Amino acid sequence: MLPEVHKTGGLIGAELRGLDLTADYPDETYEAIRQAWAEHGVVFLRDQHLNAEQREAFASRFGAIRVKQELRKEPDQTRAIGEGWHTDMTCFDEPPVATILFAQDVPLYGGDTQWAGMGPAFEALSPGLRATLLGLNAIHSNVRKLGLSYEQTDPPEPSIADYDAAAGPVHPVVRLIPETGRAVLYVNPEFTMRFEGWTRRESLPLLRYLYEFGVRPEFVTRFTWAPGSIAFWDNRQVWHFAVNDYQGQRRVMNRILLAGTKPIPAVAP
Ligand code: SIN
Repeated sequence: MLPEVHKTGGLIGAELRGLDLTADYPDETYEAIRQAWAEHGVVFLRDQHLNAEQREAFASRFGAIRVKQELRKEPDQTRAIGEGWHTDMTCFDEPPVATILFAQDVPLYGGDTQWAGMGPAFEALSPGLRATLLGLNAIHSNVRKLGLSYEQTDPPEPSIADYDAAAGPVHPVVRLIPETGRAVLYVNPEFTMRFEGWTRRESLPLLRYLYEFGVRPEFVTRFTWAPGSIAFWDNRQVWHFAVNDYQGQRRVMNRILLAGTKPIPAVAP
């Protein structure tokens, strides 16, 4: 049994139809899902009402589970986790390769998620800027001390000196997706501190340009959740953003992160 693949945008995203993940499928079904995931950056499935054991069994077909967590925003909580463009946990030496989000309880309206494709964004840059970026590394850190909390108070905004001093892994600014051979931009507004060998102040103009360019509408896809929806994204090549426009309503998701490896730098052709 192979899924029907329906693109959700010209450059990013696909919905996989025709599967019932409670069924016992052969390896080739999961291989087809993996291929669609690597090719489209994020894939969506609908009407998959899985219990915790079934969610873990699905995730385990694609790699080792690193983190399992419930993301629960109650009606009296105003902050949401992930309400800014980011890639999950690039502050780790080996950031998760994939994130799978399973919708359990969703608001009547609002609470969508958006993804931006860093493969198409990189490919749309000029040859000169692509060549410059291919030669760079960046330092990643959790300087804003983001955690898994719906608390209403923001931590104080770090200073330029905090960004300059922040320690963390050095990742290539353009990484390779081995399954497709694609070179993708690998900086993100949440965890990238500065380019290696550059100060934060020197890095900011170029980073800001990339952050603005990377979310042009053609690189972005948006998904409206229903109970039983799943989004499975390639954390190496997309940013995501949880839209926090459902105040006063409950939203409960289950999230699984799959263990990744050190990013492989893309090289100039
Ligand atoms: C996340 O940042 O992983 C959460 C996304 C969401 O809840 O839509």
